Amino acid sequence: TPSNVLEQFRMAGKVVVVTGAADGIGLAVTEAMAEAGANVVLWYNSNKAAVEKSQELAKTHNVNSAAFQVDVSEATQVSETIKKVVEEFGKIDVFVANAGMAISKPILEQTLTEYQKQMSVNVDGIVYCAKYAGEVFHRQGFGNLIITSSMSGHVVNVPVDQPVYNATKAYVTHFGKSLAREWREFARVNIVSPGFFDTKMGASPLCINEAYRMSPMGRQGHTKEIKGLYLYLASDASTYMTGSDVIIDGGYVL
Ligand code: NAI
Repeated sequence: TPSNVLEQFRMAGKVVVVTGAADGIGLAVTEAMAEAGANVVLWYNSNKAAVEKSQELAKTHNVNSAAFQVDVSEATQVSETIKKVVEEFGKIDVFVANAGMAISKPILEQTLTEYQKQMSVNVDGIVYCAKYAGEVFHRQGFGNLIITSSMSGHVVNVPVDQPVYNATKAYVTHFGKSLAREWREFARVNIVSPGFFDTKMGASPLCINEAYRMSPMGRQGHTKEIKGLYLYLASDASTYMTGSDVIIDGGYVL
């Protein structure tokens, strides 16, 4: 690790995979990595804008990039795509398991299909990505997993009923902490727990109002305000950091 702090943040030569990279937080994180010089691999589900974005980032920042369509709730797609990434890029330095979704309804109104959908994307999706990226990390002898969880894995005091979503986030936070211990000899694992951010997921008036009313900052976060945290966790600036769960929520959970 270089002793100069700005050098520690440089990502040149590193390969970073981001899931949910076409939108919101994932897109901002992908931009942050490319801006810091990393080669970026964008995983997207439905939003094909990721393909163009990948080309644009490569051109603007003179890095290598690729976009893959993957449904993270399908184990085979996850394992096959991780193989392809390693074939094409030679390694994975950082895997940002960020894709997620929410169905905001009381449990009494949710169908079992709605319940299962949230479990399959937010829990199975994170577990599959971690497991298959972890196999690569173990083989390489190095690696770095960052999980996007949520403040709602800590507190239930959100403006809408989303019991299953909240529980999926508590799950992945604790799962990530457990992996930090399991993988201590070869990889770091950290968790980011965002509060209200101005993405598609955070776009409901209820979320906007709650952020305005209840957080000391009095507003939602902009995705550009989360870039530095992910870069810190992904880079050599945070080599002593593992098993941490970093809340970034404008003070909401105080
Ligand atoms: P978003 O809705 O803009 O982005 C979510 C991304 O996940 C999309 O690109 C979507 O295509 C992808 N995705 C969904 N299901 C998928 C699947 N089966 N396979 C692959 N990709 C899939 O929302 P945002 O806010 O950018 O969400 C990113 C992460 O941040 C999520 O895990 C979310 O739970 C978390 N989060 C967001 C907060 C907010 O206020 N925006 C607050 C706390 C956590």
